[in-house]
Amino acid sequence: MAVLKVLEWPAKVLETKSEPVEKVDDEIKSFVADMHETMDAAGGIGLAANQVGRAVRVLTIMIPWSESRYADQEPEKKEPWHDKRWTFINPVIKKKNGKIRWQEGCLSFPEIYEFVDRASEIEVEALDENGQTFTVEANGLFSVCLQHEIDHIDGIVFINRMSRLKSSMVKKKVSKRQRLGSVEESVNDQS
Ligand code: NI
Repeated sequence: MAVLKVLEWPAKVLETKSEPVEKVDDEIKSFVADMHETMDAAGGIGLAANQVGRAVRVLTIMIPWSESRYADQEPEKKEPWHDKRWTFINPVIKKKNGKIRWQEGCLSFPEIYEFVDRASEIEVEALDENGQTFTVEANGLFSVCLQHEIDHIDGIVFINRMSRLKSSMVKKKVSKRQRLGSVEESVNDQS
């Protein structure tokens, strides 16, 4: 197992539509294990394969249930999808219902958190890490996270789901931070 490098936007592979997995073999199984390890190490609740540079239709999710997550709010209800390690290979959204607005973050956009509108409930069919077909109904954060990750493998990043104004603000913030980052790097190189 290995922790892989998580790519940041504007890496091109993040805006590339990913190819389906043809066979869930040992190589894909070990890649899935690496993705889970990478997601945990990065402190993310979801990860798409193209975020680690591989444009295949694989995503991982693990949403811990914690009463203390929102200290100033009512404890969230524990759902069956909490604290469960999910692998979706070749996922397809079969049904969509309702609307939900959630403040989303993304490992490919560090420190950016913006509200995005999504369907509140979805039904998804996919293969698991053993190549078995399963169907799951998702609500709340699980639904939000699944739609965010399925967008990733379709080459859609969450700024594409924001208003034009919000998305250009985020782009400016990101390029400013990356400029500052490269200045720091060159300073370090000199020492
Ligand atoms: Ni993301």
